[in-house]
Amino acid sequence: QRHLLGIENLTPQDVIGLLDLAEEFVELNRQIDKKRTTLRGRTLINLFFEASTRTQSSFELAGKRLGADVMNMSVASSSVKKGETVVDTAMTLNAMHPDLLVVRHHASGAVDLLSQKVDCAVVNAGDGAHEHPTQALLDALTIRRNKKRIEGLTVAICGDILHSRVARSNIILLNMMGARVRLVAPTTLLPPGVDRYGVEVARDMREGLAGADIVMMLRLQRERMNGSFIPSTQEYFHFYGLDQAKLRYAKPDALVMHPGPMNRGVEIDSAVADGAQSLIRQQVEMGVAVRMAVLEVLSRNLPNA
Ligand code: CP
Repeated sequence: QRHLLGIENLTPQDVIGLLDLAEEFVELNRQIDKKRTTLRGRTLINLFFEASTRTQSSFELAGKRLGADVMNMSVASSSVKKGETVVDTAMTLNAMHPDLLVVRHHASGAVDLLSQKVDCAVVNAGDGAHEHPTQALLDALTIRRNKKRIEGLTVAICGDILHSRVARSNIILLNMMGARVRLVAPTTLLPPGVDRYGVEVARDMREGLAGADIVMMLRLQRERMNGSFIPSTQEYFHFYGLDQAKLRYAKPDALVMHPGPMNRGVEIDSAVADGAQSLIRQQVEMGVAVRMAVLEVLSRNLPNA
């Protein structure tokens, strides 16, 4: 494929191929010499219209470790502030002949739109509440490494599903790979038509976590709530925050994940986030490896590759 815009465009074979390649990069990244030359001579631009710690820094490291020149476009100090549109910004950068453009934007569909306007390969680093494909891939890699499989596992995705691109990409990928997906949230934080997603739905944590192998927590995306339903922190933590007591509803060997950024004391308690069942730090490590795999696979379809 030329671009990576969403998990919805991938086949199970694509996913397995990316995870297998990412495994090689996990080993490479633990060595002292982490450099490869696959992307030597190539230019990668990170274009983030929304804040990011994990995704932007891991794409930067991934590009550099594969030998690319990497430029982080500072949107906050760019001509976007003078009214230049997203499309004009991307086309301006495109005129500088990048090979790979990694884009995050607050509007669902914006990255797809940009991909139709530029000559380079485009990676979706998160578009609104639509998709965050590399997050779902790194989550899958983390699950597979720790549970030795994805098929047949019960994965409970808990919290603000309505506004979550991470949830959407994970639902598509986990369903595709044969996991049993359960969404756990109050009705107000579930997307309309959730029954069509091919998932189980639970409105309380005891029911939702019963028999879960993986408990994936999501933060409340207050920036996307636009003054609609915003629960109080205390009330939300009481009913939906993952603490040690609620984690006992899941299987004894259940593992806890969170894409970050975490809001401790809101959707997750520190004792769980930093506890023995937490994979949260490992998810970050897998993020670099998965993004290296994505960049390498896309580079195979670049002109003169
Ligand atoms: N999980 C994730 O996308 O984190 P960042 O917003 O820090 O990139």
